[in-house]
Amino acid sequence: MNDRRHKIDCDRDADQCACDPGRSVGSRIGDHFDSKVERAGPGAGSSLHKTSVALLGLMGDPTERTILELGCGRGGLLLELLRSGAAGVRGLDLSSASVDQARHRFATAGLADRVTLEVGDGAKMPLEPSDWVVLDRVICCYPDADGLVANSVPAARRLFAFSVPNSRGWRGLAARVGRQLDNGWNGLCRRSCKTFVHDLDRLDRTLTASGFSLRGHETRGLWYVAVYERA
Ligand SMILES: C[S@@+](CC[C@H](N)C(=O)[O-])C[C@H]1O[C@@H](n2cnc3c(N)ncnc32)[C@H](O)[C@@H]1O
Repeated sequence: MNDRRHKIDCDRDADQCACDPGRSVGSRIGDHFDSKVERAGPGAGSSLHKTSVALLGLMGDPTERTILELGCGRGGLLLELLRSGAAGVRGLDLSSASVDQARHRFATAGLADRVTLEVGDGAKMPLEPSDWVVLDRVICCYPDADGLVANSVPAARRLFAFSVPNSRGWRGLAARVGRQLDNGWNGLCRRSCKTFVHDLDRLDRTLTASGFSLRGHETRGLWYVAVYERA
């Protein structure tokens, strides 16, 4: 077992996975995305997801900003932000295979000196404050949304940006049905990493109570993309 994985495995506590109480949720999520990324191969994931494109538009000009992305995956969004003038970016992810691929992409682009990439749990690791904090399709992978948001919000000096499945109205209903089907199918395939439709109103209340206000939002299919600004 390598040191990074050992660190996550040893991080066991109340959020142990119900379906395998011997391992932490973080470890299971990391393994799930490791095998996804390894199956897809090194060239995959080079185009941005529609939520990342929406976030780039809503966040605006990154020139001179420092940016922390939790659940950065293969680093596509951070790479785009660096190319658009960000001063420096940091990425954290539970999947070591994703972080390895992100490192390779930054090195190939000649931008390795302006990025710091780490394997770890964004709900638990101490986070270095940055101008912007981004969670793109990450909160929905994590059962303890409150813990993840509580740990990451204080690290955002100016903007807190995220994308999640919409929990409101007919989209919320459709997203919940979709998740149930996905989770059921994954269970049948013995892939026990679940996804969640967390309550958007609760997320909004937490951010408002932490001194943020909604600057912009968009709906992309069943996804909700939002940027909050520190007042
Ligand atoms: C659906 S992928 C999205 C990756 C990337 N943000 C994108 O949009 O392409 C979710 C990623 O979040 C990571 N992740 C989930 N929960 C996390 C947590 N608590 N801390 C760090 N990474 C996390 C997973 O390992 C996975 O790489």
